[in-house]
Amino acid sequence: MKVVAVLNEKGGCGKTTIATNLARGLQLEGLDVMLVDSDVQGSARDWGAVETDFDKPAVIGMDRPTLHKDIPKVAEGSDIVVIDGAARAEKMQTSAIKASDLVLIPVQPSAYDIWSSETVVDLVQARREIAGKPEAAFVISRQIVGTNLAGEAQEALESFDLPVLEGRTAQRVIYTEAASQGRSVLDVDSSSKAADEVRSIVKDTLAIFDIQTAKANGTAR
Ligand SMILES: Nc1ncnc2c1ncn2[C@@H]1O[C@H](COP(=O)(O)OP(=O)(O)OP(=O)(O)O)[C@@H](O)[C@H]1O
Ligand SMILES: [Mg+2]
Repeated sequence: MKVVAVLNEKGGCGKTTIATNLARGLQLEGLDVMLVDSDVQGSARDWGAVETDFDKPAVIGMDRPTLHKDIPKVAEGSDIVVIDGAARAEKMQTSAIKASDLVLIPVQPSAYDIWSSETVVDLVQARREIAGKPEAAFVISRQIVGTNLAGEAQEALESFDLPVLEGRTAQRVIYTEAASQGRSVLDVDSSSKAADEVRSIVKDTLAIFDIQTAKANGTAR
């Protein structure tokens, strides 16, 4: 079982959007996925509660900073657990980082947003010194369509010693539409650009974990 947490203390940077779409995307790869909502706001739980004509990943609420103890008990049998992080909750983040094999840090492409992720990056690095994990990477979130990464954003990213995922999201209405329908963008329109973006984040995550799904091997569909 692998655990990936989507964390950044900055509110509104796209944690829940990425966590829900990633969880559903991993499920569509044939994996058994659990989504853990660590935010008292409960947005991922709300997403999970909207009825759909397919089975979504199970969404479990865990908003105490004991994730690292609770997840291994609850998620036994899952292939992957995705944690949707809470904004401004350092204890929760510390616990999520302890629970994780990989931390994805969504950042909107502005220097201010990237700098404000310093707390999470520091927590991840402190944990790595003790435990040798988790791995971590930035995910560019809500990039304005038609723009490249602005120079200041690129510079700010380079000031951290962390990779940037190739997969990223652009600002697109379909993400908010999918959220309100309790679906992923893959379910709303699998041939959309947003669906390509999510598949790319899924692919990067699987590559980091070195997981080869039957679907990726072309042996199943
Ligand atoms: N790529 C995107 N395109 C369009 N809208 C987006 C995108 N990503 C996120 N949003 C919208 O921006 C808002 C904030 O996103 P989201 O809830 O995912 O952020 P968050 O980091 O989980 O916020 P919080 O810190 O409050 O938990 C939501 O209304 C969401 O639908
Ligand atoms: Mg959220």
